[in-house]
Amino acid sequence: MNNIKTILKDHYDIDIINALSQQGGWSALAYKVFNNQHTYFLKAYEKSRASTPKWTALIDKYVPIMIWLLHHSDLKGKIPLPLLTKNGDYKCEDDDRIYLLYEYIDGETIGDKDLTKEQACQLSEIITELHLYGEEIPIETDAIKEDFTVPFLQQLRNFLDEEITHFSSDVREVINPHIEQLNNLIDTTEKLSKSLKYSNLRMSLCHTDIHHWNLMQCEQQLMLIDWEGLKLAPVEADIMFLIDKPYYDEFMRIYQKFHKNFTINTDALQFYQGRRKLEDIWELIEQLLFDDQDVQERVKTINYLTGSLKDIRK
Ligand SMILES: Nc1ncnc2c1ncn2[C@@H]1O[C@H](COP(=O)(O)OP(=O)(O)O)[C@@H](O)[C@H]1O
Ligand SMILES: [Mg+2]
Repeated sequence: MNNIKTILKDHYDIDIINALSQQGGWSALAYKVFNNQHTYFLKAYEKSRASTPKWTALIDKYVPIMIWLLHHSDLKGKIPLPLLTKNGDYKCEDDDRIYLLYEYIDGETIGDKDLTKEQACQLSEIITELHLYGEEIPIETDAIKEDFTVPFLQQLRNFLDEEITHFSSDVREVINPHIEQLNNLIDTTEKLSKSLKYSNLRMSLCHTDIHHWNLMQCEQQLMLIDWEGLKLAPVEADIMFLIDKPYYDEFMRIYQKFHKNFTINTDALQFYQGRRKLEDIWELIEQLLFDDQDVQERVKTINYLTGSLKDIRK
């Protein structure tokens, strides 16, 4: 609590009276912080976690784009509002964590629930609007441009070929039955990654992590949160999350009003589906390898890993 008070005071000039730990997401700890006038949402990325650099390296690149969208697109009120430090920085840090401050959204996370028809429509409108913007916006997008690399592939291969033999037996038992499938997925994804690099596909701003834990209902409006993955990419990077949803046809009807003659590029789609699966699996393996987990956390991670490995076939 005290270090959070200090961070808010020193970097944002905000005096808070309390900080309540919130059920965080995948990448960071989260706090509801407030005083008598105002409520904020503070995301805190722990420097000790292996995945933190992946989530925080691009904060200075994607937050300005969010702010541009808030001012120049129809997404105002539909995406979170990041707040800058008193020096105009997009983030700040102490010895242990990197912090990002947002306006608090007083709403309900969709989470495990299904979307209503109205919510599905609003999500479709948000994605349709987002994809109207690309590299022509007056904010630099180079740093978030898709290059189709899968940086961890070699590490994952090495792991499956060698390091796995030193892993404890509980984890080996979970992974072993899936090694062949996993290697096949690595090979296909790598081939697609090479061919897509030369394909000159049109790229748009994409959220790249659309799921119900990143959606909140706030009064009459559905909001899409968690923009850490903002990319300039082929739109399949987003469409992959919608394609198996019951509201996909309705989404396409809305989408094609503004993106006339749109058709899916199946290579891009397959690449994103493959890369996502491999990313989830590698992230979990990394946690088991490098993070300082207690027994309970470890069991949870192994369960997630079991689920992700079963998903390879889908
Ligand atoms: N600005 C906000 N105001 C209130 N709650 C929020 C806000 N942003 C996120 N949340 C809540 O915190 C959870 C985790 O936030 P998210 O940005 O998705 O973090 P992660 O990157 O860790 O998934 C969300 O599912 C949502 O319930
Ligand atoms: Mg999230």
